[in-house]
Amino acid sequence: MSFRSVADLIARPNPRSGRVRLISANWKMNHNHLEAIATVQKLFHLLRPDDYRFAELSIHPPFTDLRSLQLTFEADRMPFSLGAQNCHEAPSGAFTGEISARMLARLGVAYVIVGHSERRHGFGEGVDLVAKKAAAVAESGMIPIVCVGETATERAANASIEVVQSQLDPVIAALPVADLSRLVIAYEPVWAIGSGTPADPDDAAQMAANIRAFVSDRVGEPISDAIRVQYGGSVGIGNAKSFLEAAGIDGLLIGSASLDAEKYALLIQGA
Ligand code: PGA
Repeated sequence: MSFRSVADLIARPNPRSGRVRLISANWKMNHNHLEAIATVQKLFHLLRPDDYRFAELSIHPPFTDLRSLQLTFEADRMPFSLGAQNCHEAPSGAFTGEISARMLARLGVAYVIVGHSERRHGFGEGVDLVAKKAAAVAESGMIPIVCVGETATERAANASIEVVQSQLDPVIAALPVADLSRLVIAYEPVWAIGSGTPADPDDAAQMAANIRAFVSDRVGEPISDAIRVQYGGSVGIGNAKSFLEAAGIDGLLIGSASLDAEKYALLIQGA
């Protein structure tokens, strides 16, 4: 690809919102470090300068791939942001098998997903733990992507807004104001994740408006205007654009549709 400099490939703010779009690939427990390198190399080959200018692209591989991708991005000057999927809330200590936010920061990680529904529901992470993790991420100079969203049962009980607010509240309380304006909130209805049934983009836009109203109520409008809200849950080539065009949606958090470089490049280019 031809471009003048890496600065040429920095994502531009969306003229409609003034915020920079963020499209994040959550690979979950997929791709070993060799597959990860091959995937980003293919993606880099397929994407064009306009794709990078349209949105910042973060890649969230398993922990074991982070060092490989850090070096690959640097060596080939790939304009991707490095992301992680989780971290421990403590800076260090006797926590066998865990990884701290500080360790991730040293690897050049820019964004860390916290409170993904697979961690809340599969690993029993509660709202206070998620808030501690978000605070640890911010304290290490990275940006937390805090996932929020209701289950199908909560939705049926008309409790979606209440659930999302109860997930957000401890995070807002745990983060210093300066870090709050950089926060990314991923609205991911649990029933939409990996199900093939995405939310309606209008409903996602409504939830983004509710999230901003709630944040504004707690910490003021300048912060609620600055935070970015992603949508996640069964995003694919056929619907990515409709979510990105929905009012107040600043990006996407994408699971299975981000694993194959060719399909993911088409998704980004179609958005
Ligand atoms: P999905 O996952 O795109 O496969 O539905 C999204 C997520 O869990 O972040």
